[in-house]
Amino acid sequence: MQAIVIREPGGPEVLRWAPLPDPKPGKGEVLVEVTATAVNRADLLQRKGFYPPPPGASKVLGLECSGTIMAVGPEVGGWKVGNQVCALLAGGGYAERVVVPAAQLLPVPQGVDLVTAAGLPEVACTVWSNLVMKAGLSEGETLLVHGGAGGIGTFAVQVGRALGARVAVTAGTDTGLERCRELGAEIAVNYRTEDFVEVVRKGTGDRGADVVLDNMGAAYFERNVEVLAQDGRLVVIGLQGGVKSELNLGSLLTKRASVFATALRSRPVEGRNGKGEIVAQVRKHLWPLIASGQVQPVVHTKLPVKDAGDAHRILEAGGVIGKIILVVRS
Ligand SMILES: NC(=O)c1ccc[n+]([C@@H]2O[C@H](COP(=O)([O-])OP(=O)(O)OC[C@H]3O[C@@H](n4cnc5c(N)ncnc54)[C@H](OP(=O)(O)O)[C@@H]3O)[C@@H](O)[C@H]2O)c1
Repeated sequence: MQAIVIREPGGPEVLRWAPLPDPKPGKGEVLVEVTATAVNRADLLQRKGFYPPPPGASKVLGLECSGTIMAVGPEVGGWKVGNQVCALLAGGGYAERVVVPAAQLLPVPQGVDLVTAAGLPEVACTVWSNLVMKAGLSEGETLLVHGGAGGIGTFAVQVGRALGARVAVTAGTDTGLERCRELGAEIAVNYRTEDFVEVVRKGTGDRGADVVLDNMGAAYFERNVEVLAQDGRLVVIGLQGGVKSELNLGSLLTKRASVFATALRSRPVEGRNGKGEIVAQVRKHLWPLIASGQVQPVVHTKLPVKDAGDAHRILEAGGVIGKIILVVRS
């Protein structure tokens, strides 16, 4: 097969479309002929050599894909050759073929085409596992989504609305803020010119946010705790603003607040809160919201996979709204 390989850690120019041995499905796995994959921020880090794949995972970039099942390994139930699927991956999506644990497969949601479906598994599993399974976001609560215009952000805004929450976002461009409003955000904060703590407090009658979905880590830690409502939950999923921070724990105590930090890629497939359980919950609860149109995929652009370097440049430049899809087979 052909795949995008990283010649050596570095800039987007190190990505090359090159031959690699075909992967073979083992016990509990299927082989998927890839139709499309999508770019995630983690791919940029892996390309630079900072985010190695977990042990046993493909070294090829790509945390999600869509395609058609070509072969089924032993002890796989419920899937057969020819099924069109999308999948959560620990790696290997920027390729013509990829092996996937069957527990990480999802059907293509009703109303979504096969190429666009490639951009759904990573955002759907990240957003559902954090907002619902971890933070317990519920109807009537306020959710603050940092980076609301990004891949995760545009999805989180819609899921928040579908769950009956009031949604606030931060974004760095007027176009991004406008798109977030269209998707259902009521409070939209330009992080370049405004203080989100002030705007969210003002917009909630000084109550603050019940749940904060954070991509910035250290840079926002103190202010994220400040913006939390009583019994609020902060979920850190990204460290774009650094990893080390200091906090007065008294600020958590008086609010009875909780801080979570989670990663999806390194989780095991099996077991409680494993990828299999997350995928099953996404299929049961979130796929119907997509089928009904309440939650829609937001796509910034689609490029051929051979132009993966250009796709990385676009994401690195910022201002992307939704996902960048890489088409492997048109
Ligand atoms: N833990 C996990 O399991 C997991 C899984 C998936 C993703 N993630 C993380 O989630 C984050 C979002 O991922 P993604 O794929 O959606 O990436 P993305 O599409 O590149 O989005 C990144 C967002 O960060 C925003 N941003 C940049 N500086 C900011 C600031 N100072 N304040 C607030 N927002 C800022 C950008 O907003 P503008 O473009 O508007 O400037 C952009 O929307 C990343 O950090 C990623 O690593 C974590």
